[in-house]
Amino acid sequence: MITIKKVEIAEYSGFCFGVNRAMEMAESELNIASKNQNKIYSIGSLIHNEQALDRLKEKGLIISDNVEHFEKNSSAIIRSHGLSKSFYDRMEDINVNIIDATCPFVKKIQSIVHEGSEEGYKIIVIGDKNHPEVIGILGWAQGETYSINSIDDAYSFDSSNNSKYLVVVQTTFNVDRYQKIEYILKNKIANVVFHNTICYATKERQESAEKLSKKVDAMVVIGGKKSSNTLKLAEICRSNCKTFLIETVEDLDYDDIKDLEYIGIAAGASTPDFIIREVYDYIVNKIQFKELEFND
Ligand code: F3S
Repeated sequence: MITIKKVEIAEYSGFCFGVNRAMEMAESELNIASKNQNKIYSIGSLIHNEQALDRLKEKGLIISDNVEHFEKNSSAIIRSHGLSKSFYDRMEDINVNIIDATCPFVKKIQSIVHEGSEEGYKIIVIGDKNHPEVIGILGWAQGETYSINSIDDAYSFDSSNNSKYLVVVQTTFNVDRYQKIEYILKNKIANVVFHNTICYATKERQESAEKLSKKVDAMVVIGGKKSSNTLKLAEICRSNCKTFLIETVEDLDYDDIKDLEYIGIAAGASTPDFIIREVYDYIVNKIQFKELEFND
């Protein structure tokens, strides 16, 4: 009897709208710059994927965190995660042309925070305080700011003053954890306004990866090692089945998958299609190979 083996890609996988838009803007600006020899910088990594970044670097993208070293009249791409207001101000001061590829959903959070803090709200961002998106969002607030990343953080949040608070959420935050944190904060703070700013792209990727992980033998989650949304996808899948977190096809070990009958693939929002394709083809080819051996 031949075992039918299956490979399935989660319904929502790979580049989200914001990352796709940033990549297209970068490609188009790099094409123009190559003709008129202008320098194009990216403040920090444009995308949390080394392979996609290498392609952009080959086309001339210079990655740097130090705005002070940017050449006058050069251009700088702001990545989809966004940046704090002070970066915009500084780049204007030093005559650097801004190509703003901040995802429109992140831009919206920045303006909620900016306007809220002007109205006297203290700002709470639910998310990882070390993540560039959260650092950028906090950089649009004027008064006091806080970040909460865990249920423990929410329980220990000091709400003993009578301030009014405005809460926004990192776009890639885990939906379930957010709901628990919101519940805790609602019971602790009398005057609080919540803006659930989790991005639908994250939710779709999390839900489709979760759904698939419940029916397969194992999941292969593809994404950059620094990509928080990829790490979250892996965390969700791991609670349902064996999960391999890989960056490229080279990280996948045939011995790990050879005895599996049903493999699922999910990919973070910053994983390019060509990498998903390589992983899919590798698994399909290996499975066909095994079936041929079996028939002999
Ligand atoms: Fe934007 Fe959502 Fe992607 S916020 S960058 S579309 S994950």
